[in-house]
Amino acid sequence: MKKVTVRSIFKLKESGEKIIMVTAYDYPGARLAEEAGVEMILVGDTLGMVVLGYKTTLEVTMEQMLHHIKAVAGGAEKSLVVGDLPFLSYQVTPEEALRNAGRLIQEGGAQAVKLEGGREAAPVVRKITSAGIPVMGHIGFTPQSIHNIGGFFVQGKTGMEALKLVEDAQILQEAGAFALVLELVPWEVAQEVTRELRIPTIGIGSGPECDGQVQVFHDLFGLYGEFQPRHSKRYADVGSIIKEGLHQYVREVKEGIFPGEEQAKRMDKEELQLFLKRKQG
Ligand code: KIV
Repeated sequence: MKKVTVRSIFKLKESGEKIIMVTAYDYPGARLAEEAGVEMILVGDTLGMVVLGYKTTLEVTMEQMLHHIKAVAGGAEKSLVVGDLPFLSYQVTPEEALRNAGRLIQEGGAQAVKLEGGREAAPVVRKITSAGIPVMGHIGFTPQSIHNIGGFFVQGKTGMEALKLVEDAQILQEAGAFALVLELVPWEVAQEVTRELRIPTIGIGSGPECDGQVQVFHDLFGLYGEFQPRHSKRYADVGSIIKEGLHQYVREVKEGIFPGEEQAKRMDKEELQLFLKRKQG
């Protein structure tokens, strides 16, 4: 079984084959993604929202990321594991960013890291990649800036904003990023960035012209009840299936149907007789 590498991701762009990335936060999620043929698994800081129940991604810590990246890395033999750098783990100084990126690789077992931001993130990308750690950039809607942006809005809708996005993408590429997530960017802007760059673009809510796509696992399978993003598609309503199963479990235990003969072992008849006799004295 051959491990997916940054090199093989580049080759997919060159050949025109779409690159598939999905988030995972634990061992079973990683196994399922890998068995489905996903090339890259992102341990995203969406962890905070879809797994830990926070309102935003801002509360996620390095320790939480490490905990979940470790679990995913254990299940991903082939896929490239990308670990998200959480809020304030890379914005303070490039040195601190490198230290934290190194932890995601060394302690977590990721093969690459992702961070949000346009041209302002270039020095950090340069610093981390100078230590041999592959960095995935993330522009457009950047959830760690939610309070600044003011909501889940499409970015780069005006000509000037679109131009800035294309420039940001080029700057990040020159800084050494190996791929770029384009989140909530208009179709045409994503197409233009994809055409301009040598490195692959991975879209989410940015149309089909990107080199690859990324989606949040819990959105694809109805496991996050709070809301369903417009850019996502529910491939199976696993949440409803689990809920139905749990209702049945509750009913069967209450009514004495579960556990039954199949789920429990009875004593050997002779041993039972002996036990009852001894008990009676
Ligand atoms: O944290 C995450 O899951 C992400 C994806 C939405 C791209 O950044």
